[in-house]
Amino acid sequence: MSPSLMSSKQVVVVTGANSGVGLSIAQRLISKSIEKQRPLTLVMACRNLKKGKQAIDQICSTYPLSSQSICDVDLVEIDTSSVESVLNAAKEIQSRYSRLDRLFCNAGAMAIESLDFVGIFRGLLTHPIAFFESSEAMVQRRGLVTTDGLGLTFQTNVFGHYLLVHKLESLMEATGGARVIWTGSSASQLEFTRTDYQHVLGDKPYESSKYIVDQISVPMDQRLSQRGIRCFVAEPGNVCSNFLSGLNLLWLQVLIYLVFYFCRVVLGMARFTISPQSGCEACCYLSDADGNKELLDSRLKYYSQVSRWGKPSVAAVPLALNKNLSVFLVNKLDGLVQRFDKDDNQ
Ligand SMILES: NC(=O)c1ccc[n+]([C@@H]2O[C@H](COP(=O)([O-])OP(=O)(O)OC[C@H]3O[C@@H](n4cnc5c(N)ncnc54)[C@H](OP(=O)(O)O)[C@@H]3O)[C@@H](O)[C@H]2O)c1
Repeated sequence: MSPSLMSSKQVVVVTGANSGVGLSIAQRLISKSIEKQRPLTLVMACRNLKKGKQAIDQICSTYPLSSQSICDVDLVEIDTSSVESVLNAAKEIQSRYSRLDRLFCNAGAMAIESLDFVGIFRGLLTHPIAFFESSEAMVQRRGLVTTDGLGLTFQTNVFGHYLLVHKLESLMEATGGARVIWTGSSASQLEFTRTDYQHVLGDKPYESSKYIVDQISVPMDQRLSQRGIRCFVAEPGNVCSNFLSGLNLLWLQVLIYLVFYFCRVVLGMARFTISPQSGCEACCYLSDADGNKELLDSRLKYYSQVSRWGKPSVAAVPLALNKNLSVFLVNKLDGLVQRFDKDDNQ
């Protein structure tokens, strides 16, 4: 590879790249890079290096990547629920690469305890359609706190990435035209409380964390734009991924798969993207679209959707932004950054 090609190689980091939507983003980026002959270094940021290596093997078996190839794939360890791990990952990325074009804040988890059979029964009787689009059927664990003393789901889905963005801002600014793309989810203010903004005591920590992502993305974009970086939120729709694998219930996964297909094919519900390949559509659109021509707007949330027969496309709707709350949340997150990033020289 010639040095000029090396320096012009886009560098893209995807967190949670070993599975589901993250793996599909990675595969799509590689495929586009080969198709368009656009040089790329894809960095798979995973908490489990073994799973990360298996995912790279899977990618390499589909797209044979040699040293002469237009793109290469690297692995970085990151556990977004650990400040130490995030700071180490940021250092590693800063030391290995001289640019960063895209940062996909995709890793995410829901700490599921069990199924809520009463809730399922009630949901099916009272609002069956909305029920299938929600995670109401799951009982989430309450009171989970990390070794950093933060709410587990909040730190995994929000703060770990917020800190990572903060640490990599200078690298992205130096690159020019960089983008931060969050994988969001459907969430509403109903699942959020100011007094317990990390949702340690509540029963919807996952939805609360995704609501925070919606609320902080606009002020993040406004602040980062001044440094030439844009920030957006994408929503993959309802995807059959490893998200529920913690329950270890194969019958449930099969049932969900069938219900999702019913919703899509029979009821024509476009949010049932089902495959991670379709689910990653909005994330990849936000990475690829020309910011000027296609008027990307951070006040919109970009959704992956599919036709009845699975043809993916992207739709956008305004984010339900609560300005007061977003200021409150950014202040809280900045306070945490100050607390945990003691040797911050930026
Ligand atoms: N599936 C859906 O219907 C759906 C809907 C809306 C939004 N989303 C969002 O889509 C994103 C991807 O989820 P998915 O559906 O693709 O599920 P998935 O297959 O379970 O993938 C989640 C990824 O995040 C990683 N991850 C979890 N906790 C982590 C941590 N503490 N540190 C680093 N990585 C961590 C997982 O790593 P391991 O493999 O090591 O666990 C995995 O690579 C998530 O943000 C999720 O909230 C999903």
